[in-house]
Amino acid sequence: MPSDNQSGIESILHENRTFAPAAEFAARSHVGSADARDAMRKRAQDDPDGFWSEVAEELDWFTPWSQTLEWKAPDAKWFVGATTNLCHNCVDRQVAAGFGDQTAIIWEGEPVEDGAPEIRNLTYADLQRETSRFANALKSLGVSRGDIVTIYMPMVPELAIAMLACARIGAPHSIIFGGFSASAIADRVHDASSKVLITADGGWRRGGIVPLKDNVDKACKKNDSLDHVVVLKRCENDITWHAEPSTEHGGKRDHWWSDLVDNASDDCPCEHMDSEDLLFVLYTSGTTGKPKGIMHTTGGYMVHTYLTSKITFDLRPDDDQVYWCTADIGWITGHSYIIYGVLPNRVPSIMYEGAPNFPEADRFWDIVARHKVTQFYTAPTAIRAFMKWGDEHPQKHDLSSLRVLGTVGEPINPEAWMWYHRVIGSECCPIVDTWWQTETGGHMITPMPGATDAKPGSCTLPFPGVDAVIVNDKGEEQPANTGGLLAIRKPWPSMLRGILGDRQRFIDTYWSTIRNADGEPYYFAGDGARRDEDGYFWIMGRVDDVINVSGHRLGTMEVESALVSHDSVVESAVVGMPHEIKGTGIAAFCTLAPGHAPDDALRGALRDHVAKEIGAIAKPDMIRFTDALPKTRSGKIMRRLLRDIAEGRESVGDTTTLEDYTVLAKIRESDEG
Ligand code: PRX
Repeated sequence: MPSDNQSGIESILHENRTFAPAAEFAARSHVGSADARDAMRKRAQDDPDGFWSEVAEELDWFTPWSQTLEWKAPDAKWFVGATTNLCHNCVDRQVAAGFGDQTAIIWEGEPVEDGAPEIRNLTYADLQRETSRFANALKSLGVSRGDIVTIYMPMVPELAIAMLACARIGAPHSIIFGGFSASAIADRVHDASSKVLITADGGWRRGGIVPLKDNVDKACKKNDSLDHVVVLKRCENDITWHAEPSTEHGGKRDHWWSDLVDNASDDCPCEHMDSEDLLFVLYTSGTTGKPKGIMHTTGGYMVHTYLTSKITFDLRPDDDQVYWCTADIGWITGHSYIIYGVLPNRVPSIMYEGAPNFPEADRFWDIVARHKVTQFYTAPTAIRAFMKWGDEHPQKHDLSSLRVLGTVGEPINPEAWMWYHRVIGSECCPIVDTWWQTETGGHMITPMPGATDAKPGSCTLPFPGVDAVIVNDKGEEQPANTGGLLAIRKPWPSMLRGILGDRQRFIDTYWSTIRNADGEPYYFAGDGARRDEDGYFWIMGRVDDVINVSGHRLGTMEVESALVSHDSVVESAVVGMPHEIKGTGIAAFCTLAPGHAPDDALRGALRDHVAKEIGAIAKPDMIRFTDALPKTRSGKIMRRLLRDIAEGRESVGDTTTLEDYTVLAKIRESDEG
């Protein structure tokens, strides 16, 4: 990696460059020129109803809509009165059109035996049969329309089958990323009042087994809503089995996935769902300690993710494309851009189970070459890790099938952008830097690969129909190159419809910060950004107490709550700090209870404790022990000062409101871990 100084200079040089799509690429893409893109954006702006209706007509509906949008801020209803089913549009629609034999999902497991990994290809017909059988299995456990089913699974085909089966019968799913801990599972299952949870005996990750079922067993002890746990056999992992409801298992009983499915019929018609029926809940971190269940509904989400998949990645079903998004389905990226937006476009979607560096650091490039991947979508944190591992790994493989490269989850630094462009894209693949969120459901600000000139580090222009602006806290639009808050003025089809069970938090978090002169609220994204003289957006990062660690979102308060739940910690404050690979790392400042030694053993214990309470992704990168935390006279922790300390900055800014100056000196002296 270049030195800080050098990388700063390179950043500036790269940021000022633009990269135009190759003419040959543009000629073959859906949107092949800036004029065509601008016409599409203008159309969507002038006539949003007409624009989105036309897109919706490319998909199947059981009953048409009477009105495209009903908007009374903050509540949107899209495709009012229509009925449809997203599993139908992903699967049955393709089978009915004669494409049952085409590959929908290409799955590759992590273990490699005798040089060959396990690969499974699922066609649309396979998915129709398997989602029907599993949907019937769920019904046999008493699941009916509207019941939220929790899924905690590894990246295996059955995860896709389970979520699509839920959509098939109108049971919203709540998928929990396999890296979360037992406590996180218990909280989410409780919040969603799930009666059924689907898991596996384990999943492969970097050569080891993630003990998913064990984590579920621990969560079951703390939870009283669950009745049934469905277990897929993936690893032949030793697990504790509860054939009958048992007190030790919180009154639940376990079922093998295979036993349920073997007895199930493969006939299960898709439920006719109202466009506004809940499709899924996905928990994400916010500014309080408690993650919020973001609600997405059926019709608008389907239309928005379908169109953005098609345009952003230039998906074309009859062009031998193979699309690969490396995210886990447990995050919104996997929901929208491995499954729900991609399958309706009839391009095979790769699902890979494991780590990018198993068995070797070239695993991803080996997958790209073997499957002839055409679109590749990953996170900046992964790109920075690849850079560090060395160019020799991608260079061992033929990456010439690649056409479009994507990034998501955090700002991409221009050096990483240039490396991606040069080493992975051979300087001929457009890079789409897509800005969006769990709450937005689909892409919001993104280049169109055949039409938009890229600038490294900018997510470029809003997608058609997305009215993004930079405002100050009075809601006034900011001039070019002035930093401000990123807000969305008009509703978009895949917008969140609320937070499960917490209407007030939905209003407070997203619809209370920014209003226009007429008092109308705008959607507040929580990000700071600026727009340059060409109208391009540059995301500057979160302006709230959310941090983006390796592209994964965590609330600083969540980590603080986990730390203070340890016997030794009386008070803690967590801030983000720059991290070479993760983008943002976690710095924790802890005040200890009397009798606890501030040593490395305790640091290790606290890291493990956070992993137990939340998951390994939340482990602090640095823990400092302090006698007290710097506070204002009104008792607020001065996070800005802690950020300065975590970043090793000498100047700590204005400290005039600091209650006790000596606190600061003590932290700076405390040894770092
Ligand atoms: O800060 C922004 C950052 O990720 C946040 C959303 O996180 P999450 O809901 O977990 O969704 C991640 C995947 C969509 C945003 O508020 N973010 C996402 N994409 C970008 C980004 N920051 C800069 N550039 C991006 N392309």
